[in-house]
Amino acid sequence: MFHSKYVLPLVAMAGLTLGTPARAEGTVEVLHWWTSGGEAKAVGELKKSFEATGGTWIDSPIAGGGGDAAMTALRARVVAGNPPTAVQLKGPGIQEWAQQGALNDVQAVAEAEGWDAVLPPALAGIMKYEGQYVAAPVNIHRVDWIWANPEALAKAGVEAMPTTWEEFNAAADKLQAAGIVPLAHGGQPWQDATVFEDVVLGVGGAEFFRKALVELDQDALTSDTMVAAFDQLRKMRGYVDPNFSGRDWNLATAMVMRGEAGFQIMGDWAKGEFLAAGKVPGKDFLCAPTPGNGFVLNSDSFTFFKVEGDENLTGQKVLASLIMSPDFQKTFNLAKGSIPARTDVPLDDFDDCAKRSHADLVKAIESDALVPSMAHEMAVPRSVRGEFLDLVTEFFNSDMSSQDAVEKLAAAVKRAM
Ligand code: BGC
Repeated sequence: MFHSKYVLPLVAMAGLTLGTPARAEGTVEVLHWWTSGGEAKAVGELKKSFEATGGTWIDSPIAGGGGDAAMTALRARVVAGNPPTAVQLKGPGIQEWAQQGALNDVQAVAEAEGWDAVLPPALAGIMKYEGQYVAAPVNIHRVDWIWANPEALAKAGVEAMPTTWEEFNAAADKLQAAGIVPLAHGGQPWQDATVFEDVVLGVGGAEFFRKALVELDQDALTSDTMVAAFDQLRKMRGYVDPNFSGRDWNLATAMVMRGEAGFQIMGDWAKGEFLAAGKVPGKDFLCAPTPGNGFVLNSDSFTFFKVEGDENLTGQKVLASLIMSPDFQKTFNLAKGSIPARTDVPLDDFDDCAKRSHADLVKAIESDALVPSMAHEMAVPRSVRGEFLDLVTEFFNSDMSSQDAVEKLAAAVKRAM
């Protein structure tokens, strides 16, 4: 179905004529970290659609939620002079690789297809380097979500999803008293940072989030508000089970599915996990934004590394076009738990969590409460993000005071800037 509308103009653009030998549609080796149930299903849709154009897909999955292992593998491949054709990358990471001259642009595809007209400007800006598209976005993920098991909540006498951190703590206390793990969590630095940034948004609001986690303002980082955020994080440490250390995020989601745990705080890739397990939103699981009136943005996109050979170059262009096609954006995001990056894809077939995500995104843009995720590499360079992750994880796994935490964090961030 992608042939006629999207792919054929590209084949022509790549200087190929119809009737060129088999596999003229290109080859891509795709490096990504989508290995959980929901993720694998979603990336399977991309593979299927690419192969339907006649292209050859070489899969290079690197397990590890949040993509830290994938980024290490990428660096090794580039250093060895053998980059993959297409790589899942985000935010400032896109800019960093582009600055190093490692990326091919897909500007011709973007212009031919009018990407500027269908992407939110904030997202389009992230996809470009020096005014040229060097990445194609597949989705908009929201990081500030709470997922819950309704039966577990009912058993514990929790009547509604929390809308403030006080309500969250009260609900968690009830779950604990009922013998249910209040918070399913995996103790990996990126997961700790995910919970942390959602707490920062809820405690401080979007403006504070931006000052502290994006602009890295020293006053914000050492403020009482940041101390209060760490206090809430300390409270949450008491709500996780003793085996949380090192647990993968999707296993934490499974604890909520089974009713072993009441809540998980995680981006909406967790919804992809519930859906892949056949769970029904609103019935088998609940979603609600974490307290705070903002929207923590995370978007997955693919970049195209400098490779040689017509077959590979064509593959890059075909993949870029495919990723941005409306049909694909719909199919992919129905599986991934996110919403389309394109603004013109109807959401009629999406569930209420996705519709809520879209409505809140629009509201957040209007009220200037849209913030880029620090934990998911949308906000700050990897070196700075690394300092946040180290400190937050150290705090979570020790009895460090909140006051010490803000001082250490501010100093570490200053060093890394
Ligand atoms: C990515 C998601 C992915 C999640 C867990 C996030 O950083 O944006 O696509 O599902 O990590 O692996």
